[in-house]
Amino acid sequence: SEQDLERHFDEIIARDQRIEPRDWMPDGYRKTLVRQIAQHAHSEIIGMQPEANWITRAPSLRRKAILLAKVQDEAGHGLYLYSAAETLGADRTEMTEKLIDSRQKYSSIFNYPTLNFADVGVIGWLVDGAAICNQVPLCRSSYGPYARGMVRICKEESFHQRQGYELLMTMMRGTEEQRQMVQDATDRWWWPSLMMFGPPDHDSPNTAQSMEWKIKRHTNDELRQRFVDMTVPQAEALGVTLPDPELAWNDERGHYDFGEIDWSEFKQVISGNGPCNAQRLAHRRRAHEDGAWVREAAAAHAAKHSHAAVS
Ligand code: ACO
Repeated sequence: SEQDLERHFDEIIARDQRIEPRDWMPDGYRKTLVRQIAQHAHSEIIGMQPEANWITRAPSLRRKAILLAKVQDEAGHGLYLYSAAETLGADRTEMTEKLIDSRQKYSSIFNYPTLNFADVGVIGWLVDGAAICNQVPLCRSSYGPYARGMVRICKEESFHQRQGYELLMTMMRGTEEQRQMVQDATDRWWWPSLMMFGPPDHDSPNTAQSMEWKIKRHTNDELRQRFVDMTVPQAEALGVTLPDPELAWNDERGHYDFGEIDWSEFKQVISGNGPCNAQRLAHRRRAHEDGAWVREAAAAHAAKHSHAAVS
């Protein structure tokens, strides 16, 4: 009966075991996962754009090769995640349509422009650093295909984070102008990186239920704090100043205190009014339309083969 199935589901969650695609699951669990995984997949795909902006202008062959590899990795992450969402019955074409019609979200962070080459380094350091902080616990998410996909994604993200930090270290050893570029990029990306973790816990409608289902393992504020604590010493080692005068070690809490995040900016960005939202979606829509002939050819090829198999 439905009750037995639900009890079995609850037991799997309580024992920290994994839910697999063929297992019974509550509708809400499935819906939440599709929402989160689709949003995550879209973020990887849209996230290719800000950095791809610099591929043709990378300052050396080495930097270009690294950046190309990184942007290709993001495409791969998007594809693993779409596959994970498909195991829940989501349709990939439909997900893409929902993205380009703004019916499904993608991360706020990719709606900011990349103005100079130091942005490539700062995205690796801060944006991918924040992504790792948020995603490592998702390797223990209760849904099997998502958790397993995250293991590989996190390994690649860790390479992305390191290439960014190494790029910035190199620039900091360069000219005064290069150091200023790194500081400028840090000033622009710091606050948006903190917003990646989502709204504060008291204003996060999904956290409590997602924690109960062990889809999420930590709250938004816990992960944000972990990121701040981990990043302050990295900024010191780099020699840049994080743009927050209230940033200070709090001995009592054993954590860094930090200033108030501008949540009105966050809300603007996630409702479509960030600096690059329109550009990002227009680009994605164009790429989808330009790819129509590839999808048609692939479908015709598949149909021909299945016909050959039958006759
Ligand atoms: N950007 C855009 N939307 C966001 C963001 C953000 N940074 N943070 C939260 N939201 C949205 C949520 O999707 C939710 O909207 P919805 O109900 O319409 O779907 C709403 O704001 C409220 O937030 P929460 O209740 O806190 O939502 P949730 O429990 O899903 O937590 C979080 C948000 C932490 C982002 C979670 O979904 C998550 O961990 N996702 C997986 C990681 C991910 O998507 N990373 C993408 C960027 S990293 C990268 O690609 C390099």
